[in-house]
Amino acid sequence: MGMGLESNMKEIRYNTRFLVQLSIFLIVLLTACGFALAYTQYSVSKDATNCRACHGDFRSSPYISLKDGQSWGDDLHDVHRNNMLTGECDTCHASGRFPVFLDSSNGGFTLDPISCIGCHGRAADATSGTSGTGVGLRQHHYRAGQTVCLSCHADSDPAAVTPVSEATLPPYYRTGDPNYPDMPSDPCNPNLTEEQYAASTLGLDNDGDNVYDMLDTDCSGVAATPGESSALALQPLLVTAFDSAGGTMTLSYESGCSSTDHNLEWGALGAVGTYGYNAQTADECGIGIGGTYVWSYPATPTDIFFLIVGNDGSAEGSLGLDSSAGERPENTGGICDFTQSLGDRCD
Ligand code: HEC
Ligand code: HEC
Ligand code: HEC
Ligand code: HEC
Repeated sequence: MGMGLESNMKEIRYNTRFLVQLSIFLIVLLTACGFALAYTQYSVSKDATNCRACHGDFRSSPYISLKDGQSWGDDLHDVHRNNMLTGECDTCHASGRFPVFLDSSNGGFTLDPISCIGCHGRAADATSGTSGTGVGLRQHHYRAGQTVCLSCHADSDPAAVTPVSEATLPPYYRTGDPNYPDMPSDPCNPNLTEEQYAASTLGLDNDGDNVYDMLDTDCSGVAATPGESSALALQPLLVTAFDSAGGTMTLSYESGCSSTDHNLEWGALGAVGTYGYNAQTADECGIGIGGTYVWSYPATPTDIFFLIVGNDGSAEGSLGLDSSAGERPENTGGICDFTQSLGDRCD
């Protein structure tokens, strides 16, 4: 394990001497990823191509659902942004309003910059970066007789890959985020409200097996517990600013699925091998649901390691894997610690 990032991008050890180089390295890495993601879009040039060939103009009202023929009473654009996203635009849009990419955007207030796949994909299906996350959506098309995706995505054929279960949360799904009170929250849609907005009595068939919501046996008896934050490097844990005079560093990270809050865990760098966590102070507790956090880091010791862990108010998720692929131990001595629960983890 060298200085910097572990393979799952979860743990950053910092040391003031190396921080500048580390930040430059991460910015280069992130820029490289950004270019690789910016591929497909809703339409090629606001015409009847790509998704728009079948689903039509996103802003044409009323939209008639292709899955059940029911009218949404409004257009795809309004129902998505007003009924789910509180009128916010950057969840789907990048700079400029066109094109709209399927897996890259500016990102909403506390949402990763991953556009449609934030709700129409699952991070656990990713094969690299965002690739693979939309396999459930593609297999739904395939099973409905729309085999068009197969010409470019081999995973569209259910015989090729089995997507993770219907109950697995898409990255944006959440409750308790004041920025997004109307966000879809449960792919099992138990009350027909958690994933359903327009006329249909169906939410989404997230895993593409053509069985919806609670009818899918994947949904029986599942109560998801938090997953790992910044697990897939869609938004790795980064130090984006560092103010040694003020004693603060600005962190950027991705929420763990099913998490409603996060805590920081830290310890002396020399104790990283044994995960010798220090006791938390209030500044490490309840740092929010994602995005960024300005941390008044401890003055001593000067060399530390730290991690971010998600919780749902009663259970804590994974701290990621150690170098021998075992779960990192939790910090049982912190002032804001929750008992870790990994049995029904959402990722
Ligand atoms: C060849 C026509 C066609 C194209 C192209 C197409 N779709 Fe679809 N799509 C359909 C049909 C038909 C359905 C309804 C299938 C059913 O449930 O019977 C559907 C269903 C969906 C659903 C609902 C899935 C669910 O779980 O109920 C979403 C979301 C969707 N499409 C998004 C997209 C996106 C994003 C693209 C572009 C990447 C796209 N579609 C391209 C025909 C198409
Ligand atoms: C759920 C995702 C989503 C959200 C949220 C969203 N949009 Fe869009 N928007 C789209 C899609 C998809 C298109 C159609 C792109 C295409 O046809 O290729 C579009 C098209 C547009 C266009 C037309 C662009 C052009 O050049 O033709 C405008 C303008 C626009 N959106 C403005 C907004 C504004 C303003 C907001 C926030 C108040 C917003 N959008 C929120 C997905 C979204
Ligand atoms: C905030 C979560 C969210 C985001 C982001 C999102 N969607 Fe959706 N989308 C949904 C949900 C939930 C439904 C089903 C709503 C319902 O049935 O009432 C849906 C339905 C649809 C449908 C209708 C399928 C049908 O015919 O019934 C299409 C098409 C679609 N989305 C395309 C997109 C595209 C393209 C993007 C990105 C530009 C996008 N969505 C982003 C949550 C989202
Ligand atoms: C003409 C080739 C082509 C077709 C057809 C195509 N895609 Fe893609 N799609 C791509 C490429 C290239 C990427 C970017 C590379 C990647 O992520 O695999 C991509 C990425 C995506 C992504 C984001 C990343 C991921 O892997 O999920 C989604 C979602 C997606 N496509 C959905 C669909 C759906 C749904 C269909 C069929 C309705 C479809 N695509 C048909 C070429 C295509």
